[in-house]
Amino acid sequence: MTRTFASLTRRGFLGGLAASGAAAALGWTPFVLAQQAERGEPLMKPIPASGERIPAIGMGTWITFNVGELEAMRAQRAEIVAELFAQGGRVIDSSPMYGTSEAVVGYCLEQLDEPDGLFAATKVWTRMADDGAAQMAESRRLWGVDIFDLMQIHNLVDWQTHLPRLLDDKAQGHLRYVGITTSHGRRHDELMSIMRNEPIDFVQLTYNILDREPEYDILPLARERGIAVIANRPFRQKRLIERFEDKPLPEWAGEVDCAHWPQFLLKFIVSHPDVTCTIPATTRVDHMREDVGAMYGRQPDQAMREEMVRYVEQL
Ligand SMILES: NC(=O)c1ccc[n+]([C@@H]2O[C@H](COP(=O)([O-])OP(=O)(O)OC[C@H]3O[C@@H](n4cnc5c(N)ncnc54)[C@H](OP(=O)(O)O)[C@@H]3O)[C@@H](O)[C@H]2O)c1
Repeated sequence: MTRTFASLTRRGFLGGLAASGAAAALGWTPFVLAQQAERGEPLMKPIPASGERIPAIGMGTWITFNVGELEAMRAQRAEIVAELFAQGGRVIDSSPMYGTSEAVVGYCLEQLDEPDGLFAATKVWTRMADDGAAQMAESRRLWGVDIFDLMQIHNLVDWQTHLPRLLDDKAQGHLRYVGITTSHGRRHDELMSIMRNEPIDFVQLTYNILDREPEYDILPLARERGIAVIANRPFRQKRLIERFEDKPLPEWAGEVDCAHWPQFLLKFIVSHPDVTCTIPATTRVDHMREDVGAMYGRQPDQAMREEMVRYVEQL
């Protein structure tokens, strides 16, 4: 039987592309990457559902932006956001679960006169079905945005209730992309079941140089289903940096323009073809500069990624 293009669904089409080199079709090839690096451009990766490109390094806000009303701390967080944008970053991830973080993000955006190109990602996190819409409205108010680019169901909480509402909101243009999140390996079976059966655009989960289980199942499934991937906890909440910072970087780290461990760890994540972006969190402007710096220069290929894993595992 001949299948015409028109008879393919978007996901079927993207699944087919996966087999024949989806990465290449979306412009994600070693050649394109090398050209980007040579031109000094940040690494931008496509959202499979639309082809829209977003910077591969964004910013998380759990704990780090939960600073309440303290004016000096809020002003300092605004400098961090300014640095993110100055270096070509755009993605900010938050949640109503993160205390005052959403309010602080809103404050920072206001201080910066609502910087161009923001990709605003937050979450819905409530077990009360009726509270979902009110919570999302409050998040819009706190951030000062009309619509969110990405609304995610935090930790899969009550996802059966929230998902139909989010898909409906997306259809009506009240948000742009729908996603689900977890940071627990024990939820991965449920996560994959949703990825297989529901028309979500994004999945957010933990992936870093020591937490690589998603490489075996979730990342291939994301490729097959045309789902963008956000990697959270890139540093295992700083523990990876603390573990390696006294050790030397391998000599060959310079071949992919890694100046220090945070960039080594971040380049490992964003160079995976199926990872769309990662969202390190920080309380420091200099750390933000280092983290976003991982979007620039040469990126590791598969052979070097394997070398990176071998290197850290013997430290
Ligand atoms: N279920 C979910 O949806 C879920 C779960 C977990 C996390 N997340 C998201 O993922 C984001 C990131 O994860 P995370 O907050 O667990 O932590 P993380 O990004 O893995 O680590 C953050 C820590 O790394 C340190 N750091 C960052 N850049 C550094 C640098 N260049 N040099 C030295 N230290 C550096 C920061 O300390 P300094 O302040 O000193 O820089 C901070 O303590 C969260 O903020 C949240 O948005 C989502």
